[in-house]
Amino acid sequence: MRAAALAAAAALAALAPLASQAEAPELSANPERSSSWTIFTPRAQPSLSAEQRRGEIAYQARCHLCHGREAQGATPGFGGRMAGTEALREKYQGKKPAVLEERTDLTPEMVKYYVRHGVGIMPFLRKTELSDADLDAIAAYLSRNRLKRAR
Ligand code: HEC
Repeated sequence: MRAAALAAAAALAALAPLASQAEAPELSANPERSSSWTIFTPRAQPSLSAEQRRGEIAYQARCHLCHGREAQGATPGFGGRMAGTEALREKYQGKKPAVLEERTDLTPEMVKYYVRHGVGIMPFLRKTELSDADLDAIAAYLSRNRLKRAR
């Protein structure tokens, strides 16, 4: 009896992490489910290295306000507008994803160049605003899809 209860508890414990992992990608992939809360909440991506994870957090803090995913149905000018995402959608006209985190072509060098020099209305960030170590981490995070790209 006791053994059966223990086995059931162990089975439940084994299932719990699976359920939470299944939830996470759906939230990020389905724009209809994003709100101002979900899009500003950093989501742990289990496959990230420690440096990429550091980059994800720094990205959320310094880049996401302009380069985030736009919430569906957001009132213009009221939280849902993303200057970087809008500008890049205009620039690439669907040839590349407008959201930086979905790009598969970014190299660490490109990311670091744009951040230290700025482009268009994007301001450059000084080392006192974003350290080299944090920028290296952001560059590792944004170029993570490049290696996975099928070529
Ligand atoms: C104040 C808003 C703003 C912030 C903050 C911002 N960006 Fe940008 N970013 C832009 C805009 C707007 C563009 C497009 C500029 C253009 O081409 O006219 C852009 C362009 C870029 C590009 C060039 C992409 C391409 O293919 O042309 C990169 C890379 C980039 N940003 C990375 C970052 C990173 C990394 C951060 C955080 C450290 C960041 N940006 C923070 C607004 C911003």
